[in-house]
Amino acid sequence: MELAHTPAPVDSIGCDLLAIGVPDDGLAAALAPLGDAIAGDLVAAATAAEFSGKAGTIQVWPTLGRLAAPRIALVGLGDGSVDALRRAAGMVGSTARGRGDAHVVAVLGDLDHDATVAVVEGLAVGNYRYDRFKAEDARKAELEKVVLSGSFDEDGADLGLAIAYGQRLARDLVNGPAADVYPETLAETARQLAGDGLDVLVWDEARIKAEGMGGITAVGQGSDRPARFVHMSWTPAKARKKLVLVGKGVTFDAGGLSIKTSAGMQTMRCDMGGSAAVIGAMAAISRIAPDVEVHGIFGAVENMVSGNSYKLGDILSMYSGKTVEIHNTDAEGRLVLADCLAYGDALGADAMVDLATLTGAAVVALGSFYTGLFSHDDALADALLGAADDSGEGLWRMPFPEFYKDQLKGEWGTLKNVGGREGGAITAGLFLSEFVEKTPWAHLDIAGPAFFDKAFRHYAAGGTGAMVPSLVRWILS
Ligand code: BES
Ligand code: MN
Ligand code: ZN
Repeated sequence: MELAHTPAPVDSIGCDLLAIGVPDDGLAAALAPLGDAIAGDLVAAATAAEFSGKAGTIQVWPTLGRLAAPRIALVGLGDGSVDALRRAAGMVGSTARGRGDAHVVAVLGDLDHDATVAVVEGLAVGNYRYDRFKAEDARKAELEKVVLSGSFDEDGADLGLAIAYGQRLARDLVNGPAADVYPETLAETARQLAGDGLDVLVWDEARIKAEGMGGITAVGQGSDRPARFVHMSWTPAKARKKLVLVGKGVTFDAGGLSIKTSAGMQTMRCDMGGSAAVIGAMAAISRIAPDVEVHGIFGAVENMVSGNSYKLGDILSMYSGKTVEIHNTDAEGRLVLADCLAYGDALGADAMVDLATLTGAAVVALGSFYTGLFSHDDALADALLGAADDSGEGLWRMPFPEFYKDQLKGEWGTLKNVGGREGGAITAGLFLSEFVEKTPWAHLDIAGPAFFDKAFRHYAAGGTGAMVPSLVRWILS
């Protein structure tokens, strides 16, 4: 997608779709520049159809030959906030994809840096569809060019496009069927990003076992697809901070011997959403080239049922040296993450953040928009909350009391891998905390937002690339 500016009067520019931003109750003023041939009629029509410029609303009208563009979209700018602007651009991107409009002219006012980033993010997110497996004639063209009538910020456009690139990669990975996206191919995707300052290290299943990563080994052993451990690193010459991202990379979660129901398994290709966000963020970072050292780590496994599956009552020796007794093989993500977190902790970073589709309990508590944030570090939590706020992503800090840890005390080993039913998202986070000793750390449970069962706002159903924009903003902040 390319962004450009034109000083030409908007009624004269040829394009597939002309989009006009309309602030709350500002319909007549917003449409006046279109001229007498259409402005009055459009105001009357839109008013009759109860369009008022509310954020997230859009109406599309044919122009009946009265403008150079065949169709015009009126899109609500609401209160004019950056987030409302992002959603407005999102509705434009989504509407354009619905018809396959490749060339859009948009009137959204003059955009400063932050507004430009948001508009590019919105356009890209809204325009995204996963249609690889659709028939040729059911696929619609993507946005190629967006011409803005107002000014915009070039650096903002570059940043927006870098975030969009990373988020799109994450969405493609989450949407990809588990038949295509499995540990080896997920690692290969990471490896292919190597170059230009980004290094990628991949361990195979033998190396993972030899290194003592008992969590990744156990969860991965029930699958015919061997596990992988991946460490990506962006290491600029002079770095002002050193940060670590860790992702859950369960490419399919059948539950193992504690098998899920068929319905519960339906969308479990999304269970690598954390690692997809890490890969997406690292891809964006390698484009942005910040003076921050960033490590992206994930364990990739399939949690399957077979004669070699790990079993209830097994006691795993983890990378950190702790032992974990297995009380439910469907609580597998924390085992994979535990080894990755212990590895990341040893890097001696300033902060570490993990992302995981970890618990159904987080979905019950927060719904599909909000990521759960768990941390004992207030400064880190606030920085993440700020980055999410600036990105228009839902992030909510949850209680994280040490005293719930009682539920995790092992009978035979150090820890059990599950607590009780109560506070399941919290105890999952507390389990992870046992594998981080020295690094300021936050856990993000993205079980809700990583994958939408149905379209929401300007997001199509499926993988969302949740937290990629927030991670990039946090790293840059
Ligand atoms: N991958 C699931 C969590 C999940 C549920 C992600 C719904 C996205 C949507 C995870 O591995 C899991 O199965 N968690 C169990 C934990 C339980 C056994 C303690 C759960 O939430 O039921
Ligand atoms: Mn599971
Ligand atoms: Zn899982």
